[in-house]
Amino acid sequence: MKAYGKMSKEELLALQAELQARYDKLKGEGIQLDMSRGKPGTDQLDLSAPMLDVLNSKSAFKGVNNIDVRNYGLMDGIDEAKELFAELMECPKDHVMVYGNSSLSVMYDLISKAMVHGICGSTPWCKLDKVKFLCPVPGYDRHFAITESFGIEMISIPIDENGPDMDLVEQYVNNDPAVKGIWNIPKYSNPTGVVYSDEVVRRFAGLRPAADDFRIYWDNAYAVHHVYMEDKAQILNIADECEKAGNPHMYYELCSTSKITFPGAGVAALITSPENIADIKKTVTIQTIGYDKVNQLRHVMFFKNAAGVNAHMEKHAAILRPKFDAVLDCLEKELGGLEIGSWIKPRGGYFIAFETLEGCAKRVVALCREAGVVMTPAGSTYPYKRDDADTSIRIAPTCPTPKELTKACAVFVLCVKLASVEKYLTKMA
Ligand SMILES: Cc1ncc(COP(=O)(O)O)c(C=O)c1O
Repeated sequence: MKAYGKMSKEELLALQAELQARYDKLKGEGIQLDMSRGKPGTDQLDLSAPMLDVLNSKSAFKGVNNIDVRNYGLMDGIDEAKELFAELMECPKDHVMVYGNSSLSVMYDLISKAMVHGICGSTPWCKLDKVKFLCPVPGYDRHFAITESFGIEMISIPIDENGPDMDLVEQYVNNDPAVKGIWNIPKYSNPTGVVYSDEVVRRFAGLRPAADDFRIYWDNAYAVHHVYMEDKAQILNIADECEKAGNPHMYYELCSTSKITFPGAGVAALITSPENIADIKKTVTIQTIGYDKVNQLRHVMFFKNAAGVNAHMEKHAAILRPKFDAVLDCLEKELGGLEIGSWIKPRGGYFIAFETLEGCAKRVVALCREAGVVMTPAGSTYPYKRDDADTSIRIAPTCPTPKELTKACAVFVLCVKLASVEKYLTKMA
């Protein structure tokens, strides 16, 4: 079939009638499917169920330093958990602080405390007239929700297959002292799947911020979440690069085992300079007497080391691959060559980002919903949920089965076609 943009009005009208008939028929099928949730499927959760057996009432509950993990204390984490994260994220152990179950809550805390107390002795943000954050788009809605909730002005930065537009990032960060941070998901980004190139990471590390308390919020949530094991992405280590560039305190790297073991019952960690950790500890010691060390020990006993985690991630990948393939095959087969949408084939992570023609994303999502397929609301991957071009749709293929995905994707591509025909016909009217 030829590209929609090259069709005459008559051809488009005929196509619209055909697509509408197919859509009406689909609507009558009572479909109920969901491609909106970026969660592991039950079969993935089952992979970690044996972790619940590594500790029981007869266990010793003792860490390497003879610490009883059931008791208060060690609020920056047990030694062996620090070691596991240090090996996994390739950084020194004294750069790791192990938290509770959620890296997102660590990020919330970092922003909240910067607001109220300031970072390493600098003016608390709440005392400043203006605080700004850079937000590569499309990005993670919950990052944007954090900065929005504190009244921080968010500036969208376009992203391409190598990462954010670094000319723009440098221009803002190096010249405007109100710019205090930038959200990043450097590997298998949510939702684009983009992997930051070496040049982009080096340019991040080489920033010369106008603000002393500027930090790169490096949310490496998908560091080991490959989907295609033969095509694993490798990115430069932000800690090493910042150190080399003379900016050893400029980054906060976050990660967690949420999508390795159990979302909501995993372990999160922060990687940053020992000086930053000392600053953070000043307030965290007021907040808690210690995170869940029993769960930290359980994770260490289950995985033993980074090799154990990586072997476990191969099992996740084996479950996820057919799901990603089902969606990607459908997109290619049904939309390839029509010039009504584009997507980047992700090599890992949890999402596929789809770009419609301008002004079509909301319509596609609405059509899908009417036909029984729930998608993430269009625009939600932008600050203030404002995707002015109305092109961005996030597909989350991990929860449904491959069979359900094939069906859901058939509905999705039909809705893309229908919305695109409508768009061209409106332009011709
Ligand atoms: C980029 C990113 N960061 C953080 C999270 C949440 O992580 P956690 O469960 O550790 O709070 C998610 C979850 O989808 C995510 O996609």
